[in-house]
Amino acid sequence: MSRDLCKTRLAFGGDYNPEQWPRSTWLEDIALMQQAKVNLVTVGVFAWSRLEPRPGEHDFAWLDEVLDLLHDGGIRVNLATPTAAPPPWFAKAHPDTLPVTADGTRLAHGSRDTYCAAAPAYREAATAIARTLADRYRSHPALAMWHVHNEYGTVCHCDHAEAAFRQWLRDKYQDLDALNDAWTTTFWSQRYGDWDEITPPRATQWRPNPTQVLDFRRFWSDQLLTMFQDQREVIRQRTPGVPITTNFVLADWAPIDHARWAREVDLVAIDHYPNDAGPDAEAQTAFAADLARGWNQSWLLMECAPNLIYDHGRMHHREPDRLVRQCLAHVARGSHGALVFQWRAPRGGAELFHSALLPHAGPDSRVFRATVHLGHLLARIAEFSPGTVEASAAILHDDQSRWALQTPDLPRADIDYLGEVRAVHAAFWHLGITVDIAGRPGEQHRLAVVPAHFIVDDDLAAALTAYVERGGHLVVTFLTGLVDEHLHIGLGGYPAKLRHLLGIRVEELHPLAGPAYWTELVRLHGAVRVGPDLTRHEYGRGVAWYSSTRLDRATLEAIAGEAGVERSGAPAGVEVIKRQGCLFALNHTDREQRLDGGLVLAPGGVAVVQDGLVVQTDPAID
Ligand code: GAL
Repeated sequence: MSRDLCKTRLAFGGDYNPEQWPRSTWLEDIALMQQAKVNLVTVGVFAWSRLEPRPGEHDFAWLDEVLDLLHDGGIRVNLATPTAAPPPWFAKAHPDTLPVTADGTRLAHGSRDTYCAAAPAYREAATAIARTLADRYRSHPALAMWHVHNEYGTVCHCDHAEAAFRQWLRDKYQDLDALNDAWTTTFWSQRYGDWDEITPPRATQWRPNPTQVLDFRRFWSDQLLTMFQDQREVIRQRTPGVPITTNFVLADWAPIDHARWAREVDLVAIDHYPNDAGPDAEAQTAFAADLARGWNQSWLLMECAPNLIYDHGRMHHREPDRLVRQCLAHVARGSHGALVFQWRAPRGGAELFHSALLPHAGPDSRVFRATVHLGHLLARIAEFSPGTVEASAAILHDDQSRWALQTPDLPRADIDYLGEVRAVHAAFWHLGITVDIAGRPGEQHRLAVVPAHFIVDDDLAAALTAYVERGGHLVVTFLTGLVDEHLHIGLGGYPAKLRHLLGIRVEELHPLAGPAYWTELVRLHGAVRVGPDLTRHEYGRGVAWYSSTRLDRATLEAIAGEAGVERSGAPAGVEVIKRQGCLFALNHTDREQRLDGGLVLAPGGVAVVQDGLVVQTDPAID
């Protein structure tokens, strides 16, 4: 079914909040959606208090009508369960479901996401409203997809969370000695004699136990996942075959282990809001799309801001051609379409000035003209049915390393895992190399880069070794493999589990002032030094490189060349992505660009080519 979303057409639309508007506006909405070729809208995400105004009393009349109108208008529905925003009456009746911060503050109702997914009353109510919705709309012809909850991420330190955390720890470690060993509780007299002594890592006098903190993050990812699974099961029983997903937030906070969750959804859905108003937003867009595809080949851009980028606390409008290009960049990298947040700009509420396809100014606006243009463009591209994205290089990514690198008292305080991974990805992007982002390198990858992968366990070490033995080129950078899954240092020289493969032994870590950032005292044990911070080790049929500092573009270019990785050869600022016979070219410059083969791209323009057929953007939206 998820394939059906794109087999006949690419999805185009976004969050639609009819509950915020009178019926007359719905009719205008649908007419304008048709004009823009919108074909999929997300409905009901935060509508719990409209759907259940009083405990157990449901009001579906308005939603029935909205779904019927959408269906009559040829627009399909991504129906959301409203559980990210419990109503005020619920918080009042069940104050124990309100989340508690690490310092013991119980948050009040008044925003959204004020729930604790370990609180039984909240869990029951959330599953119940999902079941009621699925019962009601199981046969509705507009139903195309389920959007469970919204951006799972609320973490809580209450007593319910404590009990659930202990149970999770018992399941994981089985006996207390194993937990004491994993958490190194001999340090600072933390040895536990009874499971009941264990608490969430609440605010404490000084540094908390880092493995306890890491396990608490793992626990919350799993706990939220059980909540998703509960809803998924009641929905699946009622609508087998309708794809079920939830939207992953790609922000500075990473509350869930996305790779783990990706196995539980029918398709991955991402929300992506670049935070750089300058040219880096294009590289960020490519990064987000490659992450999503790495989690699941079947994926969809679920949210982005139509004409807005927040950068350093300031709102920047993005030009219409940039909206079109960034949406197309997601499609080029495999998205089933482009959905945005949101269809119509709100008239009140906490996101007053958030952008929308239909802005406050109304349809007579360049944003809406860009919307219409984009909708028509996507409809034409869908006829091409592009295949799988082709990439012969990979970057390894790991949310748990990201969490672990937020531990205090590392060799430097400003380590930014995602920044390190993104910098490698951006270097590839500037070199015109399409990459996959994955948990492990694959057979198709001639080159795999492992940046700042702090945690390396036996399984990953074995996979990397086998990859190089088979002929792969592997580049491991500083901060990789310093610890195992319990945050225990491997002794005898870093990175303990990869020393043999890399033919080196790191004796000392040297964080540096200024842009040089980092270097190390590296001893050779079979590898050769090919630069001040770069070693090369032939191993099996492949090569294992080690970079004891940040990889620069020139180094990556040289290694990619040796590994035989294909480059697009396009001029700087032009992005080219191949999808089995179909080519997407995005011109991020303000000049006309000519590609090999004669394709001419207008300034800021996009072209999609297959079998001699070309679809291009209209560069003059104003
Ligand atoms: C998303 C969220 C939306 C909306 C949007 C604003 O993270 O899912 O509901 O708040 O941010 O950018």
